[in-house]
Amino acid sequence: MTRTPVNVTVTGAAGQIGYALLFRIASGHLLGADVPVKLRLLEIPQGLKAAEGTAMELDDCAFPLLQGIEITDDPNVGFDGANVALLVGARPRTKGMERGDLLSANGGIFKPQGKAINDNAADDIKVLVVGNPANTNALIAQAAAPDVPAERFTAMTRLDHNRALSQLAKKTGAPVSDIKRLTIWGNHSATQYPDIFHAEIAGKNAAEVVGDEQWLADTFIPTVAKRGAAIIEARGASSAASAANAAIDHVHTWVNGTAAGDWTSMGIPSDGSYGVPEGLISSFPVTCKDGKYEIVQGLDVNEFSRARIDASVQELKEERDAVRELGLI
Ligand code: NAD
Ligand code: LMR
Repeated sequence: MTRTPVNVTVTGAAGQIGYALLFRIASGHLLGADVPVKLRLLEIPQGLKAAEGTAMELDDCAFPLLQGIEITDDPNVGFDGANVALLVGARPRTKGMERGDLLSANGGIFKPQGKAINDNAADDIKVLVVGNPANTNALIAQAAAPDVPAERFTAMTRLDHNRALSQLAKKTGAPVSDIKRLTIWGNHSATQYPDIFHAEIAGKNAAEVVGDEQWLADTFIPTVAKRGAAIIEARGASSAASAANAAIDHVHTWVNGTAAGDWTSMGIPSDGSYGVPEGLISSFPVTCKDGKYEIVQGLDVNEFSRARIDASVQELKEERDAVRELGLI
């Protein structure tokens, strides 16, 4: 194989998403079946032993594309020469923890990681933040990396996008592959807005196919927005395989492009489009080509959508103001 391997760094590699993610990266699902990869697993000291175990299993798969694995608890080593960074490791909310405590604990992770990316990553670095609160953690990391173009920092709303596709397919009986142009707007949280007004099902407008605004408001939107909590309730643990799958989808689409006539959803620094204040990391409809994304422009936003986008953006503003007050950005 003559292609230069792509350096992929995964933080929180010993966690449950890490375990579902690493094998798919190593088998070519992240970047392509002909792209060799080198993995860097970044963990905290307590996670290193488990990460070593996962690395042993990766070895035992004898993946032809996997050209090396390095394990470290030093962000400067972990991000050295990184082309793709998947920031999965985060501090979960524990009992008695206030929102400010959670933001502050995560600031302690994402600020130094942003700086380490700034100082060590390759010039073409692409960052996906999965660890929650994903949008605001991405903002913290991005603010700590002034030498990296801001648009390289993204947050994951692809899981929400995939959840919405699946719910809409179930409702209409259409195969998922017939549904295009669905959008998640705003925050990866219960305020997110899954929008089907511009979506198409086999070429027909999805909202018209559904024809039931009550179902949208009372069933579809809350089911998608609260799906993470429903998984935790059912499984006793937060989503892992579906989150890893969405991370693979997010980066694969970013690198390899969206299909003609379709778009996807990504949390990205706003350029002010659709009234979202510039700089906030909010989910938008985007097309991807040649390793770059662009916000889909010119969509009509009806009153139903406007109110819901504004509510989620308001939450993002409040999170931004809170981390600003904590001196994290
Ligand atoms: P987990 O607790 O199983 O694993 C997290 C791992 O991160 C642990 O191994 C821990 O040691 C490690 N870690 C903690 N701090 C670290 C640091 N500073 N550097 C490197 N590693 C560190 O959690 P999980 O189930 O894998 O979930 C990870 C995160 O992803 C959580 O924040 C979760 O809420 C979030 N999540 C996001 C989405 C999304 O759609 N955006 C979906 C599911 C889960
Ligand atoms: C999810 O959407 O499944 C997760 O973000 C839920 C969580 O709180 O970890």
